[in-house]
Amino acid sequence: MAMNSKGLLEFGTEVFHSLGRGSFFIDGPIFSKLKYFVTCHHQNIEYILKTNFSNFPTAADSDAWKVQRRIAHTSFTASEFKDLLSNMSSKVVEEKLLPLLAHVAENESTIDLQEVCSRFAFDINMNAVFGVHENYLSTELPSKDLAEATAKVQEAILYRHIMPMFLWKLMRLFNIGWERETTKAFKIIDAQLYHLISQKRKHLLQGIKSFDLFNNISSLPNKNDEKFLRDSMLSLFFAGKDAIASGLIWFFWLVLSTPAVETKILEELKLLFSSKKRQLLETHEWPYVFDARDLGRLVYLHAAICESLRLYLAVPLNSITVLKEVVLPDGNLVTPGVQIIVSNYSVERMPWIWGEDCLEFKPERWIDDDGLLIRHENMSKFVTFNLGPRTCLGKDMAFTQIKAVVTTVLFNFEVEVLEGQYIFPKPAITLHMEKGLNVKLQKRVI
Ligand code: HEM
Repeated sequence: MAMNSKGLLEFGTEVFHSLGRGSFFIDGPIFSKLKYFVTCHHQNIEYILKTNFSNFPTAADSDAWKVQRRIAHTSFTASEFKDLLSNMSSKVVEEKLLPLLAHVAENESTIDLQEVCSRFAFDINMNAVFGVHENYLSTELPSKDLAEATAKVQEAILYRHIMPMFLWKLMRLFNIGWERETTKAFKIIDAQLYHLISQKRKHLLQGIKSFDLFNNISSLPNKNDEKFLRDSMLSLFFAGKDAIASGLIWFFWLVLSTPAVETKILEELKLLFSSKKRQLLETHEWPYVFDARDLGRLVYLHAAICESLRLYLAVPLNSITVLKEVVLPDGNLVTPGVQIIVSNYSVERMPWIWGEDCLEFKPERWIDDDGLLIRHENMSKFVTFNLGPRTCLGKDMAFTQIKAVVTTVLFNFEVEVLEGQYIFPKPAITLHMEKGLNVKLQKRVI
């Protein structure tokens, strides 16, 4: 696994293919007692994540997680917060993303679209989680310590998953390798997060209200536990930021390399645009930004996003432990001490789960004969947003944000992917591109 870590996901998928089944055991490195059970069998996954959830804890399942989930759940289900996030997405798109892209188009320069997506995700999540307005998307593309430090930590987490614990603990002890980088990154994160927490407390004392996930910090059970607050903020920040950046960039890559899909999305948008124009009895100057409520009705766009999230899901692997010995639905016995690796990436790429055309980017598979959306989302074979008690809480928000960005970009710009680029997933806990996606932009005239 270490040797194949660059192409770990593809490697695992090929092994499933060659075995012709959805699970296999693998021994950990020599001298470690590690044993992995790798699975993409969707009934196993449903059993592990949903039906018998309590027997399969992940590193993050703790009392603190339960409180964090409660905080997030309360906010995400409140319509006030949903509206706020939705308006915030439109605002960031209109006031920050569009000017940056217009600047690139005017200067006929090139830009790494992955960098743009990450910057968008950073800005929007700083706003949602901490109530802070950043300008990471400004035309100077400023560097931000916090953004770079969080990216470093994300990378290191993957190595902690695939490396025997004694090895990374040894690296930590001697302060070398990734562990050294991680310690440095955490110092930066800590300094900034503790500063944000103390600012929030000050604002509360002064009666200044903020509209973010931690606006009711004083009512939290662990409100005086700084470390708990830091961890909660950080995990919510990570949850939204990286997944959105990943969802966006793979969508762009798939759509831009499949012209027929791009044309259909544009046709749907043009129809919506002309219906709005008639209603408003006015002409719109370039650029045009769609209303989030109208985008929610577009079937083909939704299908295309689901399809890209199926092929390139933000969280490709899930690492889970076993409490009590149990036989899984595929007949394999797992015992305490075995590390289960759920390969979400492979689930979506198995012909016996999604059909022989599983590797094709086909939004049509999400639309029925009556032109309505097929809700694969509710089935265990679409694992992009996880299943069971740890299901993503920001799923609706994710669709809103992705729709706001991709419609604005595709409708207002002709995006050309530069030739000769190496497009491959980067080894990290969230699925990003190894070397980004360089593009040229031109204003699109509708
Ligand atoms: C395409 C975008 C997204 C995808 C694919 C995605 C996927 C996921 C997945 C797989 C998990 C489970 C992680 C685990 O426990 O192993 C998760 C959890 C979570 N997601 Fe998302 N997510 C997305 C966007 C968002 C956004 C935009 C937000 C917030 C604004 C968000 C908030 C959360 C939260 C709060 C959890 C934690 C749930 C828990 O720990 O119980 N997600 N997401």
